[in-house]
Amino acid sequence: RIVYINGEYVPESEAKVSIFDRGFLFSDAVYEVTAVLDGKLIDNAGHLARLERSCAELELTLPVSGDQLTEIQRELIKRNGLTEGGIYLQLSRGNAGDRDFAFPENTAPTLVLFSQARALIDCPKAAKGMKVISIPDIRWKRRDIKTVGLLAPCLAKQAALAAGASDAWLIEEGYVTEGSSNNAYIVTEQGKIITRPLSNDILHGITRASLLQLAEDAQLEVEERNFTIEEAYAAKEAFVSSATTFVWPVIEIDGQAIGEGKPGPIAQKLREIYIKVAQ
Ligand code: PDD
Repeated sequence: RIVYINGEYVPESEAKVSIFDRGFLFSDAVYEVTAVLDGKLIDNAGHLARLERSCAELELTLPVSGDQLTEIQRELIKRNGLTEGGIYLQLSRGNAGDRDFAFPENTAPTLVLFSQARALIDCPKAAKGMKVISIPDIRWKRRDIKTVGLLAPCLAKQAALAAGASDAWLIEEGYVTEGSSNNAYIVTEQGKIITRPLSNDILHGITRASLLQLAEDAQLEVEERNFTIEEAYAAKEAFVSSATTFVWPVIEIDGQAIGEGKPGPIAQKLREIYIKVAQ
C-alpha cells in the first residue's frame, strides 16, 4: 500500500513517525474517515469541514488546504486502485522532540493519510443487521471533536465482542449517546426516526447529517431528542450510521430482539437511498 506522510507518497513500510509525536504520546491529533465508493469520495466536503472545526477547537493548523487534501485523497485512491472502502486522514500536533504537556512552539504537524479497502455495499451486517450491548459512556466531554483519543470506544467494542455482540451503544444519565463509532437511531411504533440532538455529547456525524436530509426529502418523520435504552428495547427498529457502515440495522440490544428481530424497512430504505444518492 502507498501511503501519504507529510508531503510524500511512500510504501507503508517506509512511513515513519517519531516516538515524540504528540499524537502517539498524548492522542494530540484529529482524524477523519471518508468512504470511497466506485473510486469516489462520499460526503467528503462534510468530512473536511468537520476536520477544520476539530482543528480550530484544538488550535491545530492544517498544513494544506482543503483542495490539496482532496487531491491527496484522490491520489491515494488512484495509486492503490481503491474502488470501495475509505481514506483515513490524521493530523497530529507533531514531533515536539520531548514529552511536555504544553503545546510546543513552531512544531510542524504530522499529516498522514492511507486507504483502506472495505466492502461497503455487500456486507453481512448490512444485510442481516447486528447485535449491540449497552455500556456506560466513559468518554471525555468533547465528543464533538474527532480526536484519536479512542481508548473508551476500543474498550466498548471489545466488551461487545466478548459478549457475542458486534458493537456497543453508550449510555449516559440513562440516555443513549451514540454507538462506539457511529450515531444511533431508533424508530417508534408510529414510524418516527429518533436520534440524539447535536451537542458536545456526540460526534456530529456527516452520514447522520446526510441521512436526516434524505429522510426529510423522503417525507419520513424525524425527531432529534434523547432516548433511553428502555425505549430502544421497545422500538420498532434500531440502526446506526457512519462513513464505514452507511446504515446498519440493529436487530438486538442487550439480548432483546428489536421489533421482529430482523432489519427493519426504514433502516433498509435509508441505506438504499443513501447509497443511491452517493453513487
Ligand atoms: N467513526 N460517532 C462516533 C463516536 C464516531 O466515531 C463516528 C465515526 C460517527 C459517525 O460519523 P460519520 O458519519 O461522520 O462517519 C459517530 C469513524 C467512521 C471511525 O472512527 O472509524
